[in-house]
Amino acid sequence: MILTLEWTPDGVRFIDQTKLPLEESYVLATTYQQVADVIVTMVVRGAPAIGVSAAMGVALGAKDTDALTTEEFAPEFEQICEKLASTRPTAVNLFWAIDRMKVLFLRLQGQGASLDEVKQSLLDEALTMYDEDIASCKAIGAHGADLMPDDGGVLTHCNAGALATCGYGTALGVIRGAVERGKQIHVYADETRPFLQGARLTAWELMADGIPTTVLCDSMAASLMRQGKIKAVVVGADRIAANGDVANKIGTYSVAIMAKEHGIPFYVAAPWSTIDRATKTGEDIPIEERPAREVTHHGGKQLTPHGVGICNPAFDVTPAKYVTAIITERGVLRSPYSESLAAGELVSQS
Ligand code: MRU
Repeated sequence: MILTLEWTPDGVRFIDQTKLPLEESYVLATTYQQVADVIVTMVVRGAPAIGVSAAMGVALGAKDTDALTTEEFAPEFEQICEKLASTRPTAVNLFWAIDRMKVLFLRLQGQGASLDEVKQSLLDEALTMYDEDIASCKAIGAHGADLMPDDGGVLTHCNAGALATCGYGTALGVIRGAVERGKQIHVYADETRPFLQGARLTAWELMADGIPTTVLCDSMAASLMRQGKIKAVVVGADRIAANGDVANKIGTYSVAIMAKEHGIPFYVAAPWSTIDRATKTGEDIPIEERPAREVTHHGGKQLTPHGVGICNPAFDVTPAKYVTAIITERGVLRSPYSESLAAGELVSQS
């Protein structure tokens, strides 16, 4: 099994996703500042993985404090949370996880818990989130498997796999679920410029599982759809607004439009922690702008002329009208999403 991240007695250990697939190496973050750095530099990436990493970062910050009492630690706790929250703005799982740690801390502080109790409880909460994330992915896989074709091509964009979660994946969890049920799926993985999550990460983890995979340049998807090679699309999400608009990796929106034009179902697979009902529509979702160098350079080599203008938004928003269904651990949601998301809020995780 791929160990995307794990808590160790020395700190949080991450597989270095900037080095895959050519090098399988690991980074040990021994301070919460290093965890923040690992998130910013995308050693770890993917919405659910970022959330759990931040929770572990908070636990690490608590473990390392010089404070002697819970009261003394309180302002430092705020600083730790702020630092981790400032890493990446789009994936709501980050803020969901940090908020969950804050709620716990405030409750413990209110109960007069000792600092040792606080440290242990924060770590337990982060480890619980880790386990819950894997369970959610498995449930998403089970719910989504039925929606996959019995055989044929399924297109995915970016990496919403084990590497983007604590294990199994969301979009790739659906594919894994379908394959486990005997479906003959051939995955088409968009390369996903500029960071190449599809070419590097999705291809790597599916090959490790022996799932047939073909990488294509992002610009080739429409042509493959026209040839009838794609029977369904499944992608992950970084934030789903109350009306069902979906923020995901840049390029997802164009995939959704192409799927609609070709009459191909477009599925979004995400845990409930990705749903942000406080954000009304996709218009309100903050979109991260990444460094220009990710576009201008590849493998240390410059690709573009000096001084040319560059835009590098990491995500785009797919309007809800293009989304055939949202697959969550609580079940499969259909349009109108404002209603199905509100109803899903009341369903407890099975
Ligand atoms: O910039 P990244 O690599 O963090 O973007 C990741 C994605 O867009 C994923 O599709 C999304 O986070 C869902 S991961 C289960």
